[in-house]
Amino acid sequence: MRGKQRFEEACRSGGPWILPSLLMCDFANLEREVRRLEEAGIQILHLDVMDGHFVPNLSYGLPIVASLRKVTDLVLDVHLMISDPQHYAPQFVDIGTDCITFHREAVDDPRPLLRQLKELGVAAGLAFNPKTAIDMTEGSVDRETVELCDLVLVMSVEAGFGGQAFDPIALTKLAMLRSQGPKSLWLEVDGGVNRTTIGACRNAGADLLVVGSAIFKQPDYGEAIGQLTTAMEPSHKDLF
Ligand code: DX5
Ligand code: ZN
Repeated sequence: MRGKQRFEEACRSGGPWILPSLLMCDFANLEREVRRLEEAGIQILHLDVMDGHFVPNLSYGLPIVASLRKVTDLVLDVHLMISDPQHYAPQFVDIGTDCITFHREAVDDPRPLLRQLKELGVAAGLAFNPKTAIDMTEGSVDRETVELCDLVLVMSVEAGFGGQAFDPIALTKLAMLRSQGPKSLWLEVDGGVNRTTIGACRNAGADLLVVGSAIFKQPDYGEAIGQLTTAMEPSHKDLF
C-alpha cells in the first residue's frame, strides 16, 4: 500500500499527528534519525524540498527522498517549496512519496496539478504562505481549489527556513478552513510550532502539526514529542 491510501490510513489511525520536519536533523546519519523517530512513535515524516528560487534556501531533493523511501515504511509527506511543481511532482510520485503539497504562490492555477496528483494516486496538498489570503466564499476560485485538495497546509511562517517565530494569522485560517472547508479535508500547519503554540493550532482545527526545531534541538526525540502531545491536550492553556 502506498500513496493516498497509505496517507489516509495513517491519518485515520489516531492523531492529531506530529510530523517531524527533516530540515534540522543529522543528515550524516539520516537512517539513524529515521529510526529514532520511528521509536518515538512517529507515523508521518515531513520532507521540506527547497529550490533556492521559490524560496531563498536550498535543502534536498529527489535522491534523498528516494533513499528515505528505501529505509522506512513511514508515510512520506513532501512539502515542495519550488517554482516548478508541475515538472517535479510526478517524479516525487515515482519514487514513492505518499502525499505531495505544493504552494499556491508557485502556480497560476493549482487545479490541474491537484487533479493530476489525484490521478497518480497520491494525496494532494496545497500550501498557503502567511501573506496569501484564502477566500472560501461560495463560488470563489479558492473554494473550488480547496475542494480538489486532500490537504491544505497553512504556513505559520514564510516558507524557506526552520526556526522562525509562529504567525498567529495561521490560526484564523485554520479555523476558517475547518468551519467552511469540506469535512474530509486534512489541515496541516507548519512553522514555529512548539510547546507554546501547538495547543492553539490544535484548537483551531489542525490535524497534522509539523515540527522542526522543537524536536531536533532536543536530545531525546521521544521526550520532545511526548511534551508536544501533552501541550495539545485540552487542559493546557491556549496562549493565542
Ligand atoms: C519552513 C518549513 C518547515 C520548518 C519547520 O519553510 O516548511 O517545515 O522547517 O521548522 P520549525 O518548526 O523550526 O519552524
Ligand atoms: Zn514544511
